[in-house]
Amino acid sequence: MLFAPFDLFDHLRGKRKQLTPRRSLLFVGRGDFVRIGREFLDIFKTEAGLLPSDTVLDVGSGIGRMAIPLTDYLENRYEGFDVVPEGVNWCQKYISSRFPNFNFQLADIHNRSYHPSGKVRANAYVFPYEQDSFSFVFATSVLTHLLPDAVDNYISQIARVLKPDGRCLLTFFLLNDRSRENLECGHAQADFKFDNGTYSIVDKDMPENAVAYDEGFVEALLDSHGLCPTSVSYGSWSGSFGCLSFQDVVIATFKR
Ligand SMILES: C[S@@+](CC[C@H](N)C(=O)[O-])C[C@H]1O[C@@H](n2cnc3c(N)ncnc32)[C@H](O)[C@@H]1O
Repeated sequence: MLFAPFDLFDHLRGKRKQLTPRRSLLFVGRGDFVRIGREFLDIFKTEAGLLPSDTVLDVGSGIGRMAIPLTDYLENRYEGFDVVPEGVNWCQKYISSRFPNFNFQLADIHNRSYHPSGKVRANAYVFPYEQDSFSFVFATSVLTHLLPDAVDNYISQIARVLKPDGRCLLTFFLLNDRSRENLECGHAQADFKFDNGTYSIVDKDMPENAVAYDEGFVEALLDSHGLCPTSVSYGSWSGSFGCLSFQDVVIATFKR
């Protein structure tokens, strides 16, 4: 309701002729939906070497923020899954209908912030794809909404479906000396005040609203599933300047 006048305004200005959901449907966070999608397509290409021939899995595909710009670039298979029915429905209706190589499916996974009625636990969810299916797997702003046992499972699932020479791109709020210092000084843009050791949260009652992870813990998790980071680009969330993105971006491949 709040966004209805803006949606009407966009409609009258012809702004929604492009493939973009109505503002009232956007549940994937603040920021410019189109700009962030384009920013990530650029990061996928320049930092992770994404090619049109890659086979791509979008873990937590939301309402197509990453998929929409990919439709202009990717020629091969794209799969996305998410826990929010409205997001998956929109993507199926507006993206898959025009780009049949783009598939979306719903996962009935419990998440206190996004899908409280979900039946399956994220720490036990098996991604619905064969092993070695994808050359590029990404999860943008998704593991930042999962608790440690779920992140462990998701990294193990990513390793299972990733081809041996594939790479993955994952975004995090990483806790290290620098980001912890910025958090303490109040320079960070999120207040991860509840420290649980390897992870910290903003909201005790809704932990999945935002979860930050100790950087060493993330490296150890990747390592335990045979992966290692090839690059870590720290984001502006913790108060740094000149960053690639808002969250920290980790690109990983299998250990050689
Ligand atoms: C901030 S949004 C980001 C969405 C999308 N990745 C993007 O960048 O636009 C977080 C997304 O994670 C999804 N999500 C939450 N728990 C999930 C889970 N266990 N598995 C897959 N997606 C999940 C939410 O439904 C939501 O779409």
